[in-house]
Amino acid sequence: MRRAKHVTEALLCCVTLLVIHRSSDSIRVIGGSMTVVQGEDVDLSCRLLETDEELEQITWQKRTLEEPENHNFLLIYPSGVTDFISPNGLENRVQFFGNQTEKIGSIRITAARLLDEGTFTCVFSVFPSGVYSIEIPLTVLVPPVMSVTVDVPPVIGENEVVLASCLAAGAKPQAEVRWNTDAFGSLVRTVTNSTQHANGTTTVVSHLLGVPTRAANQQQVPCVVNQSALATERTLAYTININYPPQTVNITLSEGTPATVFLCVADSNPKAIYTWTRVGQPWPQSAVRAEGNTLHLISLSSELNGLYSCEASNPYGRATGSQYVHVTSCKNT
Ligand SMILES: *[C@@H]1O[C@H](CO)[C@@H](O)[C@H](O)[C@H]1NC(C)=O
Ligand SMILES: *[C@@H]1O[C@H](CO)[C@@H](O)[C@H](O)[C@H]1NC(C)=O
Ligand SMILES: *[C@@H]1O[C@H](CO)[C@@H](O)[C@H](O)[C@H]1NC(C)=O
Ligand SMILES: *[C@@H]1O[C@H](CO)[C@@H](O)[C@H](O)[C@H]1NC(C)=O
Ligand SMILES: *[C@@H]1O[C@H](CO)[C@@H](O)[C@H](O)[C@H]1NC(C)=O
Repeated sequence: MRRAKHVTEALLCCVTLLVIHRSSDSIRVIGGSMTVVQGEDVDLSCRLLETDEELEQITWQKRTLEEPENHNFLLIYPSGVTDFISPNGLENRVQFFGNQTEKIGSIRITAARLLDEGTFTCVFSVFPSGVYSIEIPLTVLVPPVMSVTVDVPPVIGENEVVLASCLAAGAKPQAEVRWNTDAFGSLVRTVTNSTQHANGTTTVVSHLLGVPTRAANQQQVPCVVNQSALATERTLAYTININYPPQTVNITLSEGTPATVFLCVADSNPKAIYTWTRVGQPWPQSAVRAEGNTLHLISLSSELNGLYSCEASNPYGRATGSQYVHVTSCKNT
């Protein structure tokens, strides 16, 4: 890119004009726009082509989200001396790796930050023809912070509720969020919301809504997030958790030696706490022992005969089952 200065000079002397114009016509700086993922390194390359003129200085300028005014931040002299102009927001994160002899002005920025996004300008000053520059736009991508959560644990019911929420937060550009609901078919739907932040990032929340049924419990619903800062799309595994009170209580007999054991089982989520009681009679201390969901018959005597009840409870409700125990003398021999 030529500056107006040369045009003025050219008008002053027509002979020189033709010479300089022709020779400098093809002088140009090459370099291209760059994209970097936040935290990674990026090389901004520029090179002055088609000239043997003497290099006086390479100047790097920038206007970024951090400092929107265009300003010099790095001067590179033919001697190899580099001069960092502080403060520039890039302290210790920028290094020159070009070659003055080759008129290569490339720099490397390490650990790119969102605030580094903007336009960098690589300027070559050569003698006698002047100044040539190129603008290098730098885009900084921010990967999303991802998670699947549920604000209110769903409880079995007949009304649609949020079964789970998939979050892709603080991403630039906005992440794509979807649920793989193959396990449910058309029984669920999704509602997606996005929020723009002042720093240019976006948070997306996709809610999975459905009726919290017993059948929905423990279904796998992976959340899939895609975004350009991610090498590949991410799948976040999630298992739906529906809370429900104990359903039917089953009591089964499992023969053991020396004791006989009754097992009380109720389907519930979370797991139930079991309480055994004897109906209408005092607990026969020496004959029966209750331990969690098991009832141990220690001494098979008629002392323990009677009706026993097992109550299963969790924070969502309770259910009771009962078992009649009768020891006959013939079995006790
Ligand atoms: C720069 O380029 C010149 C000429 O190609 C070469 O001799 C020199 O070694 C290079 N310098 C560096 C630091 O690479
Ligand atoms: C989506 O966002 C809007 C505005 O923040 C809010 O009012 C609405 O409740 C949100 N919807 C869901 C499903 O979260
Ligand atoms: C952008 O802003 C959001 C909301 O204030 C914040 O959570 C996030 O960390 C910021 N991201 C960056 C890269 O500064
Ligand atoms: C994920 O996103 C990238 C870039 O945004 C895109 O090229 C790619 O096709 C997407 N992948 C899927 C499976 O949608
Ligand atoms: C209780 O027994 C019934 C009938 O045998 C059975 O269908 C059910 O699955 C059992 N429940 C539990 C929690 O074992």
